[in-house]
Amino acid sequence: MASRLFIASLLLFCLMENCYGAVHLSSLKQTLVVTASPNPGQVLKAGEDEITVNWGFNQSFPAGTDSAYTNVKVKLCYAPISQIDRSWRKTNDDLTKDKTCQYSIVSKPYNPSTNNVKQSFDWIIGRDVPTAAYFVRVYAYNSAGDEVGYGQTSDAKKTTNLFEIQGISGRHASLDIAAACFSAFSVVSLFGFFYIEKSKAKM
Ligand SMILES: *[C@@H]1O[C@H](CO)[C@@H](O)[C@H](O)[C@H]1NC(C)=O
Repeated sequence: MASRLFIASLLLFCLMENCYGAVHLSSLKQTLVVTASPNPGQVLKAGEDEITVNWGFNQSFPAGTDSAYTNVKVKLCYAPISQIDRSWRKTNDDLTKDKTCQYSIVSKPYNPSTNNVKQSFDWIIGRDVPTAAYFVRVYAYNSAGDEVGYGQTSDAKKTTNLFEIQGISGRHASLDIAAACFSAFSVVSLFGFFYIEKSKAKM
């Protein structure tokens, strides 16, 4: 009896997971037009440089397509070239498992298309963002918190209109190298002066 109950609840849980848990990106309409300030190929610095993101409803979709949209989340996403051999950034069509868009830029209430006003947000790139190639994606959510539409700055294959961010740790590494060179130089010059002084003393 207990085991039957267990199996029944497991089954129910699985069904619920499938019904409500997993929204797939491929099932969403690309109803939002998204643009971001970086030029293609531009290199920006984490913790310093700013990105401006604009988004709005694509008016070629029928009015009311966005009637269930309540809020949006703007995210910074890894481009495929920065996902190779990195399973922790892997794309999954199941959005509960997708690791493409790990950096949250902002969450905002959705501005209905009837207003026809583009929304915009200025973001100073987070200090935790690592060196990689990126694009920006905006998800629209309904009141239940499920993704119901999206838009992105790159094409479907995520190869166009990418920009690069230089992470802070990468910059520190080059500073460390410079520091190491300077200290090596000072040790060498110290011995150099010591040697000159010694030979002067001899003379
Ligand atoms: C708006 O959607 C249409 C139809 O899907 C598409 O052809 C068009 O490129 C989109 N416009 C923009 C600016 O993305």
